[in-house]
Amino acid sequence: MPRIFSGVQPSGTLHVGNYLGALRQWVATQGDGDALYCIVDLHALTLEIAPDDLRTRTIETAVGLLGAGLDPDLCTVFVQSHVPEHTELTWLLECTATYGELRRMTQFKEKGAGQESVRAGLLTYPVLMAADILVYDAERVPVGDDQRQHLELARTLATRFNGRYGETFVVPEAEIPTVGARVMDLQQPTRKMSKSTATPLGTISMTDPPEEIARKVRKAVTDVDGAVAYDPESKPGVSNLLEMLAAATGGTPEALAGRYSSYGQLKQDLAEALVELLRPVHRRVAELESDPGTVAAILDKGAAKAHELATPVLSRARSAIGLTPRSR
Ligand code: TYM
Repeated sequence: MPRIFSGVQPSGTLHVGNYLGALRQWVATQGDGDALYCIVDLHALTLEIAPDDLRTRTIETAVGLLGAGLDPDLCTVFVQSHVPEHTELTWLLECTATYGELRRMTQFKEKGAGQESVRAGLLTYPVLMAADILVYDAERVPVGDDQRQHLELARTLATRFNGRYGETFVVPEAEIPTVGARVMDLQQPTRKMSKSTATPLGTISMTDPPEEIARKVRKAVTDVDGAVAYDPESKPGVSNLLEMLAAATGGTPEALAGRYSSYGQLKQDLAEALVELLRPVHRRVAELESDPGTVAAILDKGAAKAHELATPVLSRARSAIGLTPRSR
């Protein structure tokens, strides 16, 4: 049974980028092996977030994951901070990573830029992420394109630790979809659609009602030449719409481009495709929102299962690095 792991930050409302780039793959592969999907609340602390917002968004994110179709009978859904093995392993890996490699991470440079003071946790963020993965012996990690570099670091740390202290960790592989791995903001199509730097019209939330989805797609930035072609460099807006349509309906953005002679028809078809894709998600989210007890119970059971899987891996790593055994 392959072990599969992935995570999502509760830093804002889940959007179509999260859904097409990650959640959909999670749902599709949840029965393939021992799959764990984690709401990474500790990662959300690396940028400013009000305590009440963190609490609310953690639950909303859990509802979003279950609403997207994760089935707690097939996989494990849990909250990162409920399983302290993640943070304990992080320290061992922080003593494996170097300051230089963390400082060079693209996301650290982007998120830290322009901030008056940068939290140390933003620098060590990818090490916690590596611990999330390695503590479960995960072989497969389904993520969007923006996590590629973080996955590379997780592989580097696992390999370095194994080389230094003997075979301890499984070296994980990223699984990145061929279409939909990098959904761009509808208003600023050279920037990725994001929870934290959302432009209100540029981000389609997974729970936006149909008319809101249609409005945002209609207002999406394109360009003036009017030609439907897939060319992310020179036509980022139109290419993003084609990419989303391809991800939602199948096929390739290049082939879809040939079917359209106007932006209007492309936008109409994309809006319809997204509404259809998200219809079952909306229904399940509404059911779960009225049943907070069930969501809490799922997370509780998930944390217990995750803890059980993480404990032996952490002991293996503690022992390999030379920490003395502990009885509790
Ligand atoms: P996060 O919360 O930013 O995003 C969750 C997942 O959604 C994908 N994604 C996108 N895919 C396509 N287009 C977009 N515009 C888009 N925006 C986000 C992300 O690639 C991700 O797969 N560091 C991670 C969370 C994390 C994690 C982990 C992931 C923590 N520990 C261990 C995998 C394994 C993050 O911030 O994802």
